[in-house]
Amino acid sequence: MARTLKLQIYRYDPDKDSKPYMQDITVELQDTDKMLLDALQRIKANVDDSLSLRRSCREGVCGSDAMNINGKNGLACTTNLNELKQPIVLKPLPGLPVVRDLIVDMTQFFKQYDSIKPFLINDTIPPEKERLQTPEQREELNGLYECILCACCSTACPSYWWNSERYLGPAALLQSYRWLADSRDENTGERLDNLEDPFRLYRCHTIMNCASTCPKGLNPARAIGEIKQMLVKRSV
Ligand code: SF4
Ligand code: SF4
Ligand code: FES
Repeated sequence: MARTLKLQIYRYDPDKDSKPYMQDITVELQDTDKMLLDALQRIKANVDDSLSLRRSCREGVCGSDAMNINGKNGLACTTNLNELKQPIVLKPLPGLPVVRDLIVDMTQFFKQYDSIKPFLINDTIPPEKERLQTPEQREELNGLYECILCACCSTACPSYWWNSERYLGPAALLQSYRWLADSRDENTGERLDNLEDPFRLYRCHTIMNCASTCPKGLNPARAIGEIKQMLVKRSV
């Protein structure tokens, strides 16, 4: 049986619109349309093919279809339509420049990610097969390695909105701790030097929006707390 869905979607095409506006859209769904991303694909196919958004995996893995859904950041592909009040209000992630419609410019976000050196740094000669960890050492990475860099947390963080040029934000800081917590990494000192700064790390005021919005159930605020503790420990 056909279902009808009502949405209000943020639209802005800088090539033709003088300013953004909200577009009312009604779409007929098929039985197979279960998730918000299905509805957006249906809109593009049957209602308005000019609607612009990013998506790729449709499995909550690539992080590209993050958007603000009824006031909360999340992934369209893992958001069940049954859980959403109508009209569903969709906006781009808050605080980032809009490229078009639901697509934001992630340049600054990925520059910040790049700045934390998101890779293993170890200058000792690698063993023949692999650098091993104990189960306990591997356990330390749980809740960190799963981050898909969707930016839902950073763009929900008031400190990030106000200082996005200088504060790294919860996503980059969680990623930073992912390497600080890795028993195989030898760059701890330099990584901590890079974070010991009134803005890069210490703009986090533990408001916790990041943890409540993460679609993967991660807790960047906890990772930030761990970094702060590492800095305190090395100073005594
Ligand atoms: S806990 Fe820190 S990083 Fe998370 S939302 Fe609050 S200020 Fe931002
Ligand atoms: S911590 Fe969660 S919300 Fe933040 S970028 Fe990673 S997956 Fe997305
Ligand atoms: S399309 Fe990849 S996370 Fe949603």
